[in-house]
Amino acid sequence: MALVSAKEMLVKAREGKYAVGQFNINNLEWTKAILQTAQELNSPVILGVSEGAGKYMTGFKTVSAMVSAMIEELKITVPVALHLDHGSYDGCYKCIEAGFSSIMFDGSHFPIEENVAKTKELVEVCNAKGISLEAEVGAIGGEEDGVVGKGECADPDECKKIADLGVTMLAAGIGNIHGKYPADWAGLSFETLEAVKNKVGKMPLVLHGGTGIPTDMIKKAISLGVAKINVNTECQLAFQEATRKYVEEGKDLVGKGFDPRKLLAPGAQAIKDTVKEKMEIFGSINKA
Ligand code: 13P
Repeated sequence: MALVSAKEMLVKAREGKYAVGQFNINNLEWTKAILQTAQELNSPVILGVSEGAGKYMTGFKTVSAMVSAMIEELKITVPVALHLDHGSYDGCYKCIEAGFSSIMFDGSHFPIEENVAKTKELVEVCNAKGISLEAEVGAIGGEEDGVVGKGECADPDECKKIADLGVTMLAAGIGNIHGKYPADWAGLSFETLEAVKNKVGKMPLVLHGGTGIPTDMIKKAISLGVAKINVNTECQLAFQEATRKYVEEGKDLVGKGFDPRKLLAPGAQAIKDTVKEKMEIFGSINKA
């Protein structure tokens, strides 16, 4: 199946009260592990690519070509969207040109008028091409690719302003942050989420910073309109831990244990296990 926009899968998720996972990719192993898990579990999936990860993989065209070819070679039949994560204005256009099926324009750091103007322009471009568009209001905290946000709570009226432009899905800051949550984290603001939901109606909402959010909070967020949950750090930590164990046990020193296909295998399996666990919690299994 060719890449699809995230629109249909998210409308279905919003209606069916489950969420589709966006799992960020960093290389071939990451991509393969996520696609295989989605296929095995018959779940729709969104592959997220930050601008930094895109650069690391030599550019968005490489990523797009790799993902499309992999879908074909692995005979993936579940819906897959290839999505730019926290895109800059220029990054959005580069990804549209490279064949991404979904983009996020993160205009949360602009004054609201500028966020509205740029988002409006991108809505038209994306609609014409059948690409889904995610917008953000209220910066998500933590650090991602050098962009640091404080974990604001979005203004529900500003959310409505952006939602009314016709974006596909909306990321609203509700006290969530990227990376590990600090011990004194106050938790998600369900008050904000509910107020946003009441303003934007059936618009699928996006929860960033999926790593480490307790299951009960995830389920409550889904019940309040969250239909897409982004996970990045948790797969990185799972990969790191499994790789560390392999090396610490000296397995790289035994026979052909140095072969990258062996060295990276435990990490890839750990990503698969993490993605499976998340898909179970999000409720997206058998929803392809
Ligand atoms: P985590 O790294 O905290 O899982 O957040 C991922 C994310 O929100 C990507 O946009």
